[in-house]
Amino acid sequence: MEHRVLGSSGLLVSPICLGTMTFGTPVAEADAIRLVHESIDQGVNFIDTANCYEGYDRVLGSTGGVAEEITGKAIADRRDRVVLATKVGAPLGPGPQDRGLSPLHIQREIEASLRRLGTDVIDLYIIHWPDRQTPLEATLEALDRVVRQGKARYVGISNHSAAQLCRLLWLSEKHGWPRPVSSQIPFSFLRRDFQYDLPFCEEFSIGVTPYQSLQGGLLTGKYRRDQEAPTGSRAAEKPEWVWERNDSLYDTLEALEALAAEIDTTPARYALAWTLAQPAMSSLVVGAKHSEQVADAVAATEIEIPAEHFARIDEIVPPPWHQSDPIR
Ligand SMILES: NC(=O)c1ccc[n+]([C@@H]2O[C@H](COP(=O)([O-])OP(=O)(O)OC[C@H]3O[C@@H](n4cnc5c(N)ncnc54)[C@H](OP(=O)(O)O)[C@@H]3O)[C@@H](O)[C@H]2O)c1
Repeated sequence: MEHRVLGSSGLLVSPICLGTMTFGTPVAEADAIRLVHESIDQGVNFIDTANCYEGYDRVLGSTGGVAEEITGKAIADRRDRVVLATKVGAPLGPGPQDRGLSPLHIQREIEASLRRLGTDVIDLYIIHWPDRQTPLEATLEALDRVVRQGKARYVGISNHSAAQLCRLLWLSEKHGWPRPVSSQIPFSFLRRDFQYDLPFCEEFSIGVTPYQSLQGGLLTGKYRRDQEAPTGSRAAEKPEWVWERNDSLYDTLEALEALAAEIDTTPARYALAWTLAQPAMSSLVVGAKHSEQVADAVAATEIEIPAEHFARIDEIVPPPWHQSDPIR
């Protein structure tokens, strides 16, 4: 795989990043460790985790930490081969300080993440969601301390709009605080809400690392109209994590599958290749249960979507209407 630059960080990352949200359940510890090793062997050098991840056991406000601990064990003897990202901000308990982006919570959580990951420094420390109760200045100042203390190399954001990113960039420049280098947003054929933020990210050297580009497996072709979800699939094991499947969704999936078939590729590879072809894309954060799924994602990096397919894709899954390129 040809590496891509992660925004303005200068870090070179594989275009496929291994997501760890399912570490714990259904991907048990030993399998997850093997998956990390096999992914690294396939050229993946970028791992995404979060302080809250604990697989299917996750409920809002549970304590998390499971995926970070497993990831820490997996990379213990190969830390220098991975760019390690983790996140802060999700609720981790019922207490008022157990969530968000306050300096207190960030200070506490960076220590906990470092301990669980068994490392001295996190390469990319991501704020998971905007926190409307903490002034952005307080969050950025806390992140500045984290970076100055050498506990994180770079800062990233997740689930922020371009307007929020714009304010972050302005504040960081004004105060000399760390500038976000990456943005993790949901992006797939089925979720194009952030489409028109991408050129902005490109202009300001923000590396986009989208998540759920397979829409939790829906875009892989494994779910068929009028059939039960296959055994062992996410829709069979954890249906609340997969969108409801109805006729209209199947119409869309089948139309996309037909396009994939035109270039003799699989729906999963086609979906990932299209996402990678969007502006500002550094690396796709892909979830996998076993290394064959990682291999499939890696193979997608070799696929080129024919130029004339982009307009046909737009007809099937139109970009958001509200900003449909007013400039053009
Ligand atoms: N920043 C955020 O707020 C946020 C939110 C969500 C996720 N994330 C990150 O994004 C990562 C990916 O999220 P995700 O796992 O929900 O989405 P995803 O990558 O769209 O879906 C991954 C799932 O699809 C199935 N799959 C993958 N490759 C396949 C293939 N080739 N053929 C058939 N099935 C395949 C597997 O599920 P089954 O085999 O079990 O069906 C796999 O667990 C997470 O691990 C996390 O790191 C970030």
